[in-house]
Amino acid sequence: MSGGDSLDFEIRPNRAPLSDAERAALLANPGFGRIFTDHMVTIRYAEGKGWYEPRVEARAPISMDPAAAVLHYAQGIFEGLKAYTLPDDGVAMFRPDANAARFAQSAQRMAMPPLPQATFLESLRQIITIDRQWVPQTEDGSLYLRPFAFASEVFLGVRPAIEYLYMVIASPVGPYFPGGVKPVTVWVTPAYTRAAPGGTGAAKCGGNYAAGLSAQAEAIEHGCDQVVYLDAVERRYVDELGGMNIVFVMEDGSLVTPPLTGTILPGITRDSILKLAQRAGRRIEERPVSFEEWRDGAASGGIREVFACGTAAVITPIGTVRSPQGEFRVADGGPGEVTMGIRQELVDIQRGRAEDPFGWVHRVL
Ligand code: PLP
Ligand code: COI
Repeated sequence: MSGGDSLDFEIRPNRAPLSDAERAALLANPGFGRIFTDHMVTIRYAEGKGWYEPRVEARAPISMDPAAAVLHYAQGIFEGLKAYTLPDDGVAMFRPDANAARFAQSAQRMAMPPLPQATFLESLRQIITIDRQWVPQTEDGSLYLRPFAFASEVFLGVRPAIEYLYMVIASPVGPYFPGGVKPVTVWVTPAYTRAAPGGTGAAKCGGNYAAGLSAQAEAIEHGCDQVVYLDAVERRYVDELGGMNIVFVMEDGSLVTPPLTGTILPGITRDSILKLAQRAGRRIEERPVSFEEWRDGAASGGIREVFACGTAAVITPIGTVRSPQGEFRVADGGPGEVTMGIRQELVDIQRGRAEDPFGWVHRVL
């Protein structure tokens, strides 16, 4: 198969999909990542054969050999993006090509074979089409798509595997943080770092999240919603949150966000916000921000607002910042005007309600 080509999917519809009533009951209160659609995509890979047997089939448990390499050495990657109901009841994905590109970069970092980007996009189109009834129609609802791939080879030696499985599952979701867009409280961990130079911080691999769970547990113990990581070298500069990037709104209205130096995930929401802000004439700066700058800026008013951004979290204001040295608030701790304005602008584009100046909205249906 050549690089840009997509594969022909074999479609095996679920013979026992949920009834309309059962689906409606689940969609009434989906939460985040707890309910799933009727189907899944699977594509296999073997060295020498390439990607093969692309299928859309009933979502079901998969059987794995206990020696499958991913279970031992965590050679696996994933993506996360959303499909939205459009005003005319069509369905669109937001910037799926950017997720396809990042998936390929993550694969490269984890010594995995890249899935052709056209196949990645087609797999998403397939699951949305067959499970379109599962795309929420509510104001804050969307269909969260989770493509992932892992080493399925049965082998305990430590080297890149020669067999993989790519899959897509889909989950109707509401807001990631219960309670909608109210500001979250974050914990700046003194004990843990997320990514070091030369490590896997810029890849979307499961190991990054496994390594962050103790820090997230520490955050929860301190009554916080999310953990903030400082850089691993100086323990001074803000990297990102456990599952989101971070943006500071300065006194003059400019946006400042940590640069992509390889230790943070290159967020597609982050990139979209920067592009929209720049287009609107707002000054943007990608530069390191130290914890002291954050604390002092919050006290002096030099930093007006701070928000977290990501596919799951969309744009979520950060109200209170807690660390072993105590806590502080950014402004009055409430949702800021700039944050909420940018959020509205982004969400309106994603949901097809506003002009799409960069061609980010990919209609599927
Ligand atoms: N940072 C981390 C660690 C993430 O898991 C995510 C979510 O995907 C993001 C940032 C934001 O990335 P995106 O905006 O592409 O969802
Ligand atoms: C996403 O936003 O897609 C993520 O992967 C983050 C995670 C916290 C759900």
